[in-house]
Amino acid sequence: MLHTGKNFFDQEEVFNTYWRQRGRELSANAVLEEPVIEELIGPVQGLALLDLGCGNGQYGAELLGRGAKSFFGVDAAQKMLEQAQERLHGTEATLVRGTFEEIDLPAESFDLALSRLALHYVEDICSVFAKVAKSLVKGGRFVLSVEHPLLTSSLDQEITGPRGSMVVDDYFVSGPREIEWLGGRVQKFHHTLEEYFLALQGAGFQVEMLRESKPKRELFPTEEEFLRRSRIPLFLFLVGRKS
Ligand SMILES: C[S@@+](CC[C@H](N)C(=O)[O-])C[C@H]1O[C@@H](n2cnc3c(N)ncnc32)[C@H](O)[C@@H]1O
Repeated sequence: MLHTGKNFFDQEEVFNTYWRQRGRELSANAVLEEPVIEELIGPVQGLALLDLGCGNGQYGAELLGRGAKSFFGVDAAQKMLEQAQERLHGTEATLVRGTFEEIDLPAESFDLALSRLALHYVEDICSVFAKVAKSLVKGGRFVLSVEHPLLTSSLDQEITGPRGSMVVDDYFVSGPREIEWLGGRVQKFHHTLEEYFLALQGAGFQVEMLRESKPKRELFPTEEEFLRRSRIPLFLFLVGRKS
């Protein structure tokens, strides 16, 4: 059965497999996504934070532990929110179950909005980005990571063998894609790199930074693993500042 990002992670097997894989020492999240997100976010002391796709609140707890003033997390998955509520109980966190598309966010309330690996489940990124812009104070930043558009263009392919190749196809055909993942079938949305960039600009952001998940040798225990991860870009990062 096909799920969307809004209900995919509430399936028991998907939820458990996601956190098992995400927690591995050398997961792509740990060695390719998190290091760049950390660089882009910088110090959070005293900042009011918004997180679209806050998951189980693990990152929110870390950021509050580093002195963030408050944390407002949004996620559609009940299972994610339950764990987040437990973890963040008694802190300056507000957690809301809802979809990015439907939720109302408080106006001009956040210094920094972030979203990690959640916005490639969204069809209409322009209206979600506009909503984020409204929720930020003037000069506030939006830091996001998504699956790289070179990957989302032709999602459902198996790369076999050590030098197996990935096909990039239908790159300029943005829209829904389906993939078997984590024991379920999910719909993601492919947007080109230019579309992410223009959607940020169109929502009133000045695009300050674009990064890809270029591997850093020191984060890999072996040359082989480093070279394997040097072949295909997995993640795209953008930073916008509300002007
Ligand atoms: C891949 S997980 C990432 C979770 C967390 N940010 C992390 O890095 O571990 C994507 C999250 O986005 C949420 N999500 C996906 N599409 C959504 C939507 N349209 N509205 C609200 N939440 C959504 C899912 O429930 C899930 O928790």
